[in-house]
Amino acid sequence: MQTLILQPHGPVLVIRLNRPEALNALNQQMLAELTQALTAADANPSVRCIVITGSDKAFAAGADVKEMVQMSYADVAAADLYGPAAQTIARIRKPIVAAVSGYCLGGGCELAMLCDFILASDTARFGQPEINLGIIAGMGGSQRLTRLIGKSKSMEMHLTGRMMDAVEAERAGLVARIIPMADLVTEAVKTATIIAGKSLLAVRAAKESVNRALEVPLSEGLLFERRAFHSCFATEDQTEGMQAFLEKRPANFTDK
Ligand code: HXC
Repeated sequence: MQTLILQPHGPVLVIRLNRPEALNALNQQMLAELTQALTAADANPSVRCIVITGSDKAFAAGADVKEMVQMSYADVAAADLYGPAAQTIARIRKPIVAAVSGYCLGGGCELAMLCDFILASDTARFGQPEINLGIIAGMGGSQRLTRLIGKSKSMEMHLTGRMMDAVEAERAGLVARIIPMADLVTEAVKTATIIAGKSLLAVRAAKESVNRALEVPLSEGLLFERRAFHSCFATEDQTEGMQAFLEKRPANFTDK
């Protein structure tokens, strides 16, 4: 991997974006390596939760403008630029936590929103500044940011290109929690380790059900959730989880 650093922490895999010379701008190589690393982690039984992070200064300052500047409509349409990578990331079944510090802009913000939730340092700055370059978001920003923070704020962000700080992002619902910068990755790994200790069957059911809320009408989402809830009763982990509670001991989940 030329653009990523992979750091296992027990059952948690930390993927660190690593192009410091370009504030972690997402180029084709980084996206290819990221989708490869995520796909491998999804298939690797020793990984139970994934953290994607960047540097203190930048999670990612967007897609790589140097790579895009000479591209024509025909080029990007033929390649379906960013489409396959975004779809691969969205299809990862294990939970992914984004640990965001510093700039999280354009494609970087879209990558963070492709993760399951965002933990932000107090220095994080979010934005969809593509409008300043004469383009718009292309990896889900106009859709996901709007679903997360509502039309008015999302529209303002996309039309003005302004940045939001961590406090505003948390208040708006983009960010789950704000953490002091020095503790961000430690806290993200701690959170991911908690998730890694649950039944992977239940974790997947929860991830799929919550994601359903952004995809389908309420009645369909409720039905999906109820069926997924019912299916949990086919697992040994349901029996173990409930028995452990009643016996006042920690559950020992086996993903069965
Ligand atoms: C390529 C980038 C980059 C980017 C920063 N750099 N962002 N290179 N693509 N998106 C490079 C700079 O060119 C510079 O390289 C180095 O990183 C440091 O950046 P500076 O600008 O000198 O740093 P600073 O003054 O601290 O300003 C930080 C910044 C600014 C405010 C984040 O870099 C910035 O505005 N970046 C662009 C943000 C943006 O427009 N993102 C959206 C991209 S379009 P050199 O070689 O000069 O030292 C997009 C489309 C998404 O994301 C579509 C779907 C994926």
